[in-house]
Amino acid sequence: MKFSLLISAAFLLSSVSLSSSAADKEFVQTAKALFGTIPAKESAPDKITQEQIELGRKLFFDYRLSKDGSTACVRCHQPQYFSTDRLAQSSGFNGNKGARNAQSILNLKYQPVVHWRNDRESLEEQALKAFTTPLSLGNSSTEEALKRLELAGYAPLFAKAFPKSEKALTLENAASALGTYQRALTTRAPFDKYLEGDVKALSVAAQKGLQEFVTVGCASCHNGPAIGGRSLQKFGVFQNYWNVTKVTTPDKGRFEVTKKEEDLYIFKVPSLRNIAETSPYFHDASTKDLGTAIRWMGKLQLNKDLSDDQVSVIKAFLESLTGELPKNFREAPLLPQEAHAGSELPG
Ligand code: HEC
Ligand code: HEC
Repeated sequence: MKFSLLISAAFLLSSVSLSSSAADKEFVQTAKALFGTIPAKESAPDKITQEQIELGRKLFFDYRLSKDGSTACVRCHQPQYFSTDRLAQSSGFNGNKGARNAQSILNLKYQPVVHWRNDRESLEEQALKAFTTPLSLGNSSTEEALKRLELAGYAPLFAKAFPKSEKALTLENAASALGTYQRALTTRAPFDKYLEGDVKALSVAAQKGLQEFVTVGCASCHNGPAIGGRSLQKFGVFQNYWNVTKVTTPDKGRFEVTKKEEDLYIFKVPSLRNIAETSPYFHDASTKDLGTAIRWMGKLQLNKDLSDDQVSVIKAFLESLTGELPKNFREAPLLPQEAHAGSELPG
């Protein structure tokens, strides 16, 4: 289906008989089918969901939940950098370094694939593990993580957000709240207005760039409302990626997780929303420059040497994917007051 959409887009672009504005309007329909919008208004969450979102938000920003107080989710997923950290490798508890570049946690509602190597089933599993992994919050055990939540004064908030749970304060519920919070973080951009029919929401260069993005073949992988995030693909379809990126120790990608030959150098197709704000690029941060990233993609994934003009208009299109940060991410929440529970942390 995706393929036939691409073919029809190519056909459309080559049909000179249409007047330009009629062609523009038709192309909007093609693009809408390939990508899909982030709506202006999402339906309002019910009261319980709202409590869970607010709880997830507090957990996301709370440094007290890490073993040495040095780390919270927000340390590596910072609002000012559109939820990344501008580092090649993130650093977490005890200064431990992550093996790959931090991804954005925005627009995950539209991305079924989690992590560069898809080694997590869901946002909930991702969050659950983050509490106890040494690269993240660094707690030595589930009990230790739970104790920190209790000491930081979270018990009443869990009871409110999970009224049906027999025991509300659990790591599963913490992970569930974090998942619900992250799914609520979307960034609508000028591109969405364009898809809704307001052609002028994109500059002429960005419109040209979108047409290139579709006809050259980028959209065969980067599609859906997040412009990616829906599949895993080989990095370096036409040649080894390190020939072009010049990294000296290539990461084997999903192969490290499954040990299956067919998973060699397979990575998540990342979302390109807000991409102009989330340099450096690729799982190994091999370039800081968006134009270079576009050129490499043409070469490695499509076997095409893109011209300077093509790179420049595609870049203009990608810039039109920068959206507005949701208020409940842009602003830090008020955290609960420490409980006077008098109980000590284990071990
Ligand atoms: C030490 C820095 C660090 C901390 C702390 C951290 N993350 Fe991350 N996060 C990363 C890195 C690095 C990746 C990419 C990991 C990979 O794919 O190998 C990532 C990936 C993710 C992803 C996957 C996004 C995608 O596009 O697939 C989610 C979701 C996420 N983090 C949420 C969280 C949450 C929730 C917390 C807190 C419980 C957290 N992170 C704490 C660095 C961090
Ligand atoms: C065959 C699938 C495929 C095609 C076609 C493709 N990409 Fe990608 N793209 C990927 C994958 C996989 C990655 C992640 C590679 C990595 O870092 O390991 C990626 C990463 C990127 C990144 C870096 C994203 C980030 O968060 O660091 C950009 C930018 C990008 N692609 C743009 C493009 C453009 C522009 C085109 C068309 C010229 C294109 N892609 C074509 C699969 C594809």
